[in-house]
Amino acid sequence: MAQRRSPFNLSTCARPNILALEPYRCARDDYKDDGTNILLDANENAYGPGLNVDKLQGASSNGSVASKEDLEVDLLGLNRYPDPHQTELKQLLCDLRNTDSNTSTPLTPANLFVGVGSDEAIDNLLRAFCRPNHDKILVCPPTYGMYTVSAQINDIALVKVPLLPPTFSLDLPALTLALADPTIKLLYLCSPGNPTGTTLPPSAIETLLSHPTWNGVLVLDEAYIDFAPDGASAAPLVTEHPNLVVLQTLSKAFGLAGIRLGAAFTSPQIATLLNALKAPYNVSTPTSQLARAALRPAHLETMRANRARILAQRDRLVAALPQIPGVGGFLGGFDANFVLVQILSAPGGTPCNETALRVYERLAEGRGVVVRFRGREWGCGGCLRVTVGTEREVDRFLGELGGVLGEVYGERGREGDEGKAGSGSKGDAGDEERREEAASKVVG
Ligand SMILES: Cc1ncc(COP(=O)(O)O)c(C=O)c1O
Repeated sequence: MAQRRSPFNLSTCARPNILALEPYRCARDDYKDDGTNILLDANENAYGPGLNVDKLQGASSNGSVASKEDLEVDLLGLNRYPDPHQTELKQLLCDLRNTDSNTSTPLTPANLFVGVGSDEAIDNLLRAFCRPNHDKILVCPPTYGMYTVSAQINDIALVKVPLLPPTFSLDLPALTLALADPTIKLLYLCSPGNPTGTTLPPSAIETLLSHPTWNGVLVLDEAYIDFAPDGASAAPLVTEHPNLVVLQTLSKAFGLAGIRLGAAFTSPQIATLLNALKAPYNVSTPTSQLARAALRPAHLETMRANRARILAQRDRLVAALPQIPGVGGFLGGFDANFVLVQILSAPGGTPCNETALRVYERLAEGRGVVVRFRGREWGCGGCLRVTVGTEREVDRFLGELGGVLGEVYGERGREGDEGKAGSGSKGDAGDEERREEAASKVVG
């Protein structure tokens, strides 16, 4: 059919910063969860949802026994819009964190925003505080990519103050200096960090919160906090600091990435802003129902048992990886459900992006084991980020990694010999650049 003539021109009508966006790539675009792959790339919970589905009882009881009703979606109620306030869900989230309490004032539902994953809160904070094309956010690479993606979508400029490798601690003097810029409205920090696995010390957070001139908000993303030692969450501190937001999610330790439920703990004033600007029915009825179930004692037991299994497998990875020839050191810390590990140019060599990229590609394409190449992130040269899987997945990963490294070094040796004889190929630097870029574009 012939196109109608129209004054409409997408390229001048849509916002330039939106036209400039690259199509969003996420973990499951590249390697599917079709049962053939071992997915150690998106920091999901390999042991499954934190829901006690094995020992369901017929009837609800005092809350310590999982009940069928907890998990049954009220199908006949789906014609009605969900509760826009989600007070019961918010209270359960407060109950979870009030036990960690390092403050005398308990959290209440007035301290909360709940949304479609913590990604919704990341974006809503930008919309609440930053004027497009005017204000800025401050991020500390290497960090979670969604802060940058959301900033681009909202036409907000980025200031970067990198973390200090190899521990990835905060550069407090540089941050203090940067926060003198009055157009910086938000500082996004991640603790435990992605991809660093490092928990930031409360003293550093307190130092930033008491900056002498900065009129802005510190957003502390605690997506992985339940893998850190108990009591590490800064959520209770929001009752003392009007400029603190703590993000959490049910996607990681709770194993519920599929329901999309994230939370922002903050002052009642900021929570009011976030709740005012959200879409009214952002949390669906099934999501709310499953989230509330997951936060009840009988189901929390399952989450805690799964978490203990993940921590045991994390310890195994930390002990076993350095035994494989060609695996270098770990960077960052071990407070999340992943590790960041260097791959070397040769056994005993130096961290090497080319080798790490080859290993990443061969693991995924030849052997169905998908990890994440992070070698282009600040301070992460030669690094792969590996999500902790089940015991069987960790076995498989360790075996395949040893095999792939042997293969890659063997080929490298033969290429070297051929090179000496004058017929070898040194590889195409442009091609490697493109492959590294493609492997780095996935957000998460
Ligand atoms: C640091 C960090 N924050 C937030 C998220 C997104 O979480 P959600 O699934 O709640 O949107 C992720 C996901 O990988 C993450 O790594």
